[in-house]
Amino acid sequence: MVDFVALQADLTAQIEAAEDLASLEAVRVAALGKQGAISTLLKTLGGLSPDERREQGPLINGLRDAVQSAIAARKTILDEAVLAARLRAEAVDLTLPAPPRRKGGVHPTMQVMDEMIAIFAEMGFRVAEGPDIEDDFHNFTALNFPPKHPARETHDTFFFAPDETGERKLLRTHTSPVQVRTLMSQAPPIRIISPGRTYRIDSDQTHTPMFHQIEGLVIDREIHMGHLKWTLETFVARFFETEGVTMRFRPHHFPFTEPSAEADVQCDRSGGEMKIGQGSDWLEILGCGMVHPNVLRSCGVDPDLYQGFAFGMGVDRLAMLKYGVPDLRDMFESDVRWLSHYGFSAFAAPGQAHGLS
Ligand code: DAH
Repeated sequence: MVDFVALQADLTAQIEAAEDLASLEAVRVAALGKQGAISTLLKTLGGLSPDERREQGPLINGLRDAVQSAIAARKTILDEAVLAARLRAEAVDLTLPAPPRRKGGVHPTMQVMDEMIAIFAEMGFRVAEGPDIEDDFHNFTALNFPPKHPARETHDTFFFAPDETGERKLLRTHTSPVQVRTLMSQAPPIRIISPGRTYRIDSDQTHTPMFHQIEGLVIDREIHMGHLKWTLETFVARFFETEGVTMRFRPHHFPFTEPSAEADVQCDRSGGEMKIGQGSDWLEILGCGMVHPNVLRSCGVDPDLYQGFAFGMGVDRLAMLKYGVPDLRDMFESDVRWLSHYGFSAFAAPGQAHGLS
């Protein structure tokens, strides 16, 4: 005869003694698993006489129920202990100060871009944008680069593989295609600047394959070179934060302007440091001119009614000049130590009211 009382006491003691979920599971398998003590007892019921079964059945079932609920109760306790231990281990002390993190900064190129936008915005220019991936029409043809003209080659263009139609897309070599897109999508008067990334196969101390330009375009009925000169002189004085800067306009050639000029600012290179607005040297900072009638025609604007000026300048170069960065390539190294030295606070966006830099 099985001593149910002793068996229950023994199993209950084992359950109470289980220190963790694994040992509790071992007790459960030993009692209620397929080969377990209680399961074996339950299997004997079939071989008993009806009278014995009537007597043994409730005892065995009672034992099973008691052991099951003892296991469930113990499991609740152990589960709670596991959770408590985990919460203790993963606790975050919110009263601790956050560890100091390296501060981010605004890159000089982006800072200068924002400064330029602030200056031109105050003069009534709107920002226009275009895609980095351009086609031949917008980057060259509509800008009056004749087919096979050597000027196309001087741009050292990054071309994509031809698509199914045979067209070769390219990475824009200048921001001038935005002139075309603007002229084709809106009617004059137009007064826009277009900042953005540009690309050429070129890499040395003063060139990087990706660089930044700002393009300007003004189109109306009576725009002339005097407007161009005033706009650029005003911009340069504000940009370099000086009273006035002497500029020099030298004749040049660009396919998309006629006449064309390169503009230099007066500077002083003596003493190893570049000073803008004084001295007897000149520094080239931008290209400009009166928009070529062919460009206006290509874009559906009547050159007998409208004319205007355009200009383009390298943002990275002007950032280096203004903030004394010696090597262009460092501008693209992504070195956080460099950025923490040359970078700007993200909370001091340039504006005319509270200063540019
Ligand atoms: N697109 C020229 C370049 O990248 C720069 C330029 C020169 C733009 C004269 C102009 C301009 O709009 O009038 O070399």
